[in-house]
Amino acid sequence: MSSSNNEQTLTLPTGKTVKINTCLFINNEFVDGIDGKRFETINPATGKVITTVAEALSNDVDKAVDAAYEAYNKVWKNVSGTERNKLMNKLCDLMERDLEEMAALESLDNGKAFSIAKFADVPATIKTFRYFAGFADKITGKIVETDHDKFDYVLREPFGVCGAIIPWNFPLLMIGMKLGPALACGNTIVLKSSEFTPLTALKFASLVKEAGFPKGVVNVLSGFGPTAGSAIAHHMKISKVAFTGSTNVGKSILKASADSNLKKVSLELGGKSPNIIFADANLEEAVKWAHMGIFFNHGQICVAGSRVYVQDSIYDEFLNKFKSYAESIKVGDPFKEDTYQGPQISKIQYDRIMSYIESGKNEGAKLLIGGERHGEEGYFIKPTIFTDVNENMTIMQEEIFGPVVAISKFSTAEEVIEKAHLTKYGLAAAVFTQDITRALKISNELQAGTVWVNCYNIYEPAVAFGGYRESGIGREGGKYAINEYTQLKSVQINLGRSL
Ligand code: NAI
Ligand code: MG
Repeated sequence: MSSSNNEQTLTLPTGKTVKINTCLFINNEFVDGIDGKRFETINPATGKVITTVAEALSNDVDKAVDAAYEAYNKVWKNVSGTERNKLMNKLCDLMERDLEEMAALESLDNGKAFSIAKFADVPATIKTFRYFAGFADKITGKIVETDHDKFDYVLREPFGVCGAIIPWNFPLLMIGMKLGPALACGNTIVLKSSEFTPLTALKFASLVKEAGFPKGVVNVLSGFGPTAGSAIAHHMKISKVAFTGSTNVGKSILKASADSNLKKVSLELGGKSPNIIFADANLEEAVKWAHMGIFFNHGQICVAGSRVYVQDSIYDEFLNKFKSYAESIKVGDPFKEDTYQGPQISKIQYDRIMSYIESGKNEGAKLLIGGERHGEEGYFIKPTIFTDVNENMTIMQEEIFGPVVAISKFSTAEEVIEKAHLTKYGLAAAVFTQDITRALKISNELQAGTVWVNCYNIYEPAVAFGGYRESGIGREGGKYAINEYTQLKSVQINLGRSL
């Protein structure tokens, strides 16, 4: 295995420098791809190239899977939960040590505000790993009472090699949500980062090695979906794959499983989440939460509250306040302290969002504010509000994944519940009201994997996270994630019964 010396020093917009190895991370070594290909990663705030990284193709996936397979069978499956817990916590200590650097890399590669990456993304990733580390020595099976003369128990065992294919919107947190439970359960991993944001995964890889994980337990590949991603989804030696991304690609992952070895699949996909605001809500708070619900991470969030429904008696007041609030939020350079909204991830996403905005206008929605580029360079879009929408419009049906919200009126609970369900998705929903009975009744009614009451976009590693309907299969978070990364084995012992 040729070990490459491709460590690069990047100068950040803060003036500080960061060292990063841009090769593939296989068997605890940074190596070039077998075919020697590399690709560029872009800073979306400028549209300029940050650096190039090694590109994994299917032969590199094979190599990484072989490493993970051997690591599982020869080492990792015999490593105790106590030791896995220790390693994971050590990894967290290192992430804490390098928190500022990781946040800066995340911000540079993704375009999210540095201050937010520092206070939200990286701490949430560490919190997730620490949460799951706590499970590592507490995953147990069950003794099951059966007929006489038998002793039966059910074991919860790891799968072996797991694949993880992650998107670009929360590159580090996605690593936490997938690798946290996977490692706690005793699996080994081949992770493919998004082609748009490979850098923090590589930084993470160097910390995996420093923390002392045995070689081959975690392998990190930079690469594209149709090549490396598809090779993971089809791989015969991968027993489970976890994917976050678009619904269409999610469907192709499920097909790949069917076409290969029926690997277990968990999918966290798109959404078009309704945010319902009743007249008795605390209006000031509802405005701020609803704003965060759609504009956090520039709208590039699967749970984005992109359809805001406001009860008619407070509609005008809400709209005025929401508009003023949206206009007061700082869009611009991710490294400026007061920036809330940075650029969209890529030219492709920028164009896609702009075409959704055009469709909104063409289909008769009213553009209240935004709808255009912000600044001269990079992929910035002004916060955009549509009103006068109806459920048949494209912008009310499809995931825009940008800073675009549609606000409409409702009068009764029955009416808004019906409207809330008029999409193919069911990832999240929210309800704002001071009436506890109404809050509970509406929460029970909503067809969504997460319902927030009087808040939005709160991330909690301990609760189940995933989608109803076409928003996904399986659950991340909490002990539910432990179920996703383990399989059950029943052992039936004869205590003397003869045939
Ligand atoms: P995508 O679904 O194409 O990409 C997500 C990941 O899947 C990336 O790592 C990509 O390389 C990989 N991938 C792509 N094609 C693949 C294939 N055939 N086999 C295996 N892996 C594959 O998402 P993209 O193009 O970045 O964004 C498109 C839309 O997807 C967004 O506008 C948004 O609506 C949705 N999306 C949803 C996310 C979520 O958090 N649920 C995250 C990112 C995107
Ligand atoms: Mg980038």
